[in-house]
Amino acid sequence: MKKTLVLRVNPQEPDLEKIRIAARLVRDGGLVAFPTETVYGLGADALNPEAIQMLFKAKGRPPDNPLIIHVGNKEDVSGLVELVTHKCEMLIEKFWPGPLTLILRRSKIVPDVTVSGLDTIAVRMPRHATALSLIRESGCPIAAPSANLSGRPSPTTAQHVLEDLECRIDAVLDGGPTPIGMESTVLDMTADQPQVLRPGGTPFESLRKVLKNVKLHPAAVAYRSSVPNKPRSPGLKYRHYAPAADVTVVEGGLTAVVGKIQALADFHAEKGRRVGILCTDETIAQYKAEVVKSLGSRKDLSTVAQNLYRLLREFDLEGVDIILAEGIPSRGFGLAVMNRLRKASGFKIVNATY
Ligand code: TXA
Ligand code: MG
Repeated sequence: MKKTLVLRVNPQEPDLEKIRIAARLVRDGGLVAFPTETVYGLGADALNPEAIQMLFKAKGRPPDNPLIIHVGNKEDVSGLVELVTHKCEMLIEKFWPGPLTLILRRSKIVPDVTVSGLDTIAVRMPRHATALSLIRESGCPIAAPSANLSGRPSPTTAQHVLEDLECRIDAVLDGGPTPIGMESTVLDMTADQPQVLRPGGTPFESLRKVLKNVKLHPAAVAYRSSVPNKPRSPGLKYRHYAPAADVTVVEGGLTAVVGKIQALADFHAEKGRRVGILCTDETIAQYKAEVVKSLGSRKDLSTVAQNLYRLLREFDLEGVDIILAEGIPSRGFGLAVMNRLRKASGFKIVNATY
């Protein structure tokens, strides 16, 4: 048990003194949570095997699920990988700093434990002043998975980080809610054809404009469990993003979806279960259940993405047994939202028809 230091900062212009305290902790092998533009990350010196081992332990993360390494400058990627191809350079130029993680062949300086023994690494440069300032001040690349206990929804506020990790980590830089609220897009550049392993903050449509042949790995769509014997992204085989309640996703035409969800809600309520409904502004008035929450308007999928993890955590605090979630369109940020919802449900997906 250790006391977790909370360092409050202005996210755009973080107080250098607090950043220096956090950076010293990282350099000394400690664990520091910090905001990025996507979600809060739990940072440790990527090149310090003991620190990384502690990081896996603090999160309860299986050791075969590798970490994303965060750099403070575009140039810093070259020391971590074998080769930055022309295509990768183009992606870095266009999307960094930002929510795009690239999988590349790694160089030997990265310890095995950081990459779970793989010959590739995941690397990104975040677009958040606090994150960048911490990485640069630490003077080392920072490995940072999302700062939640393994299997819980990712944290979008410092409060969420403390809910999961208080007394297990050295400090958290509290820079308020994270702007995107959804993790980065993970793009594998080591295969012949680039493929998205996890949809996220950089929409697939934006990648396709730059990489004509990019494709979606089945796990990115997550319509069903698609765990091959040797998954491309080791994280794919774990149940993720899950609240404590049992989640069912209802997909299809909107009228049919609303009807099906209300019918399921009535069924479960009759059995004495506490039911939560996760819906949208357009439909919220049509439901009757114990707890009904809206992700925002269907016309604004970036807001929907921003709200998802916060609402899943709120349902847990309300103690619901069941969450019935509306499917939303899988374009733009919607693809990442549907990926997380389907995985949270353990692929319990109902297709609503008349
Ligand atoms: O937005 C984000 O990406 C956040 C913030 C903190 O940057 N980080 C994050 O990290 O979401 P994490 O550890 O929760 O998710 C990393 C994902 C996992 O699915 C992992 O399996 C995958 O990236 N990954 C890491 N290294 C990989 C590799 N070498 N090959 C394939 N997948 C890899
Ligand atoms: Mg995570």
